[in-house]
Amino acid sequence: MTDRFAGKTVLVTGAAAGLGRAYALKFGAQGAHLILADINADGMVETAAMVEAVGGTAEHHLCDMSDEAQIQALGQAVLAAHDRLDVLINNAGMHMGEIARGFFGLGQAKWQHFFAVNTIGPLLLAEALRPALARAKGLIINKSSMASYQPQTAYGITKAALNVFTHAMASQFAADEIRCVGIAPGLMETPAAKDGVEDANWERLRSMQAVKRQGTADDIANLGIFLASDEGSFINNQVLLCDGGHQLRGFRI
Ligand SMILES: NC(=O)c1ccc[n+]([C@@H]2O[C@H](COP(=O)([O-])OP(=O)(O)OC[C@H]3O[C@@H](n4cnc5c(N)ncnc54)[C@H](O)[C@@H]3O)[C@@H](O)[C@H]2O)c1
Repeated sequence: MTDRFAGKTVLVTGAAAGLGRAYALKFGAQGAHLILADINADGMVETAAMVEAVGGTAEHHLCDMSDEAQIQALGQAVLAAHDRLDVLINNAGMHMGEIARGFFGLGQAKWQHFFAVNTIGPLLLAEALRPALARAKGLIINKSSMASYQPQTAYGITKAALNVFTHAMASQFAADEIRCVGIAPGLMETPAAKDGVEDANWERLRSMQAVKRQGTADDIANLGIFLASDEGSFINNQVLLCDGGHQLRGFRI
């Protein structure tokens, strides 16, 4: 436990599991107060207890990132309780199942839902929280994916669009000295990814990386910590791949 983020407030969406939980634990272990948001209440309660066990503090809020009214309600609750927000991590995302299987035949309603969660929700939440981010001269992290660089699926397309949003947000939030950066993971060993990728594919995917090990949730959380730290404070308007050099082999998922 260090106190590098003592006095700092960090909001993580999709905090009930996987990468979102990993960010919460890393920031919590360094003294931050965590605001957790997700559609999974039980998972958030677990994450909050884990954050407290490593020395941080946490509160949690139900919020469906496809629902504008819920995003506005979260924004208002956070602004009412917190003067400043140092880091917003737009991590919640749909990435397994139908969204990852291609893009024909989905129909407008599914497309709209996928874009609402993965692409537009992050912008709406950042807009809602802008006053608190501005007071902190804070950081927005949008969770992209290596799939955004070869969008062959609805998933990759929503994340490619999020990369564009990230640059637009860096431009439009700069007036308040708020930075906006994307993190694009390779295939990381989270429970959801393990469930969603057939066992036979894990070795094939690993063999396509230059770094011969599976990426972990901590690899991604460590990058978030760096970007939010004083050492990372000159990085803005970038989408950073963290994929073990997967692209060196020619990009295929
Ligand atoms: N794990 C990977 O290999 C990988 C790679 C690249 C990008 N990503 C991205 O990282 C993020 C997290 O991935 P993960 O592996 O931890 O997944 P996960 O499925 O374990 O976690 C996602 C979390 O988001 C929540 N969520 C889903 N829909 C939501 C909604 N509408 N509103 C609020 N919360 C919602 C889920 O309840 C869950 O807690 C996603 O955006 C994903 O696209 C993951």
